[in-house]
Amino acid sequence: MQYVKLGSTGLDVSRICLGCMTYGLPDRGTHAWTLDEEASRPLVRQALEAGINFFDTANVYSDGTSEEIVGKALRDFANRDEIVLATKVHGRMRPGPNGGGLSRKAIMTEIDHSLRRLGTDYVDLYQIHRYDHATPVEETMEALHDLVRAGKVRYIGASSMYAWEFSKAQYTADLNGWTRFVSMQNHYNLLYREEEREMLPLCADQGVGTLPWSPLARGRLTREWGTVTERSAGDAFGGRLYLDSDRSIVEAVTRIAADRGVPRAQVALAWLLHQDTVAAPIVGAARPGHIEDAVAAVDLELSDKEREELEQHYTPRAVSGH
Ligand SMILES: NC(=O)c1ccc[n+]([C@@H]2O[C@H](COP(=O)([O-])OP(=O)(O)OC[C@H]3O[C@@H](n4cnc5c(N)ncnc54)[C@H](OP(=O)(O)O)[C@@H]3O)[C@@H](O)[C@H]2O)c1
Repeated sequence: MQYVKLGSTGLDVSRICLGCMTYGLPDRGTHAWTLDEEASRPLVRQALEAGINFFDTANVYSDGTSEEIVGKALRDFANRDEIVLATKVHGRMRPGPNGGGLSRKAIMTEIDHSLRRLGTDYVDLYQIHRYDHATPVEETMEALHDLVRAGKVRYIGASSMYAWEFSKAQYTADLNGWTRFVSMQNHYNLLYREEEREMLPLCADQGVGTLPWSPLARGRLTREWGTVTERSAGDAFGGRLYLDSDRSIVEAVTRIAADRGVPRAQVALAWLLHQDTVAAPIVGAARPGHIEDAVAAVDLELSDKEREELEQHYTPRAVSGH
């Protein structure tokens, strides 16, 4: 495994982050395809044994059970000092007033629930899952800064939003001497590259590390176009993110993977790992082979010609996934 500094911080993260949305009780929350505790634990262990030290979950994943399962597995299999544990806040955890969002009240409540579920007294990277248009950004940034000062959080990060929103949050922190975001977890892969317009150049300029979510386009980049899996069959969100014309990109991945004699997933991840600001793609691994491919991708060097072939079929599209 290779490690990099996350953006301009001193924090060492593995070049693959394990996406823990895959782990959680299927009958809780909105993802019926998740793996329960018994099926999840060997994958967390395998990731650790492969040198992955970076784990990403969220309070909303499977209604908190992702945090519970992953937290317990990490307590059993890892040394807390060696791992980088990331979670998120913003999604709705309860119906009614103050059940979600980024108010001071929501943030202060949700960090304590996440710490309890994870079974730890601090989170390494606490990320806002989206921008909250109903809360003043000053309120959010000060509350996050206070969590850092209280020792509950080591670093803060953000996820999918417009570049102007991210920039506003960062300068609000600067103006008040509060903690800045060190990372941007955004939707970025060979089938969705709108982030190359504004967000990625902003992150490069500001020394912010990026952590692409759904780096394999939720599996579309890993198999024959049109193949349906248990997960993709019920993935309404994923169905809105990609276009029929993306087939030619998947075919380019297929050609290069066949020439190289490697699975498609390795080619798609290697392309992302070549991008300047990308610290670590957040890979969703439901089987041992998924982790093996992700780890192998770190050492796969693509030529300029191969990268050009992968990129040439992309058509710009409407921004989505925020
Ligand atoms: N911040 C956000 O808003 C946000 C949004 C989404 C995700 N995330 C984060 O990103 C993580 C990853 O998301 P994701 O699961 O959508 O990512 P992904 O890596 O693009 O998709 C994972 C799926 O791709 C397939 N796959 C993965 N590796 C494979 C391989 N080597 N060979 C063949 N198929 C393979 C599997 O599909 P099948 O199971 O269908 O076979 C797997 O479930 C999440 O766990 C979460 O931490 C964040």
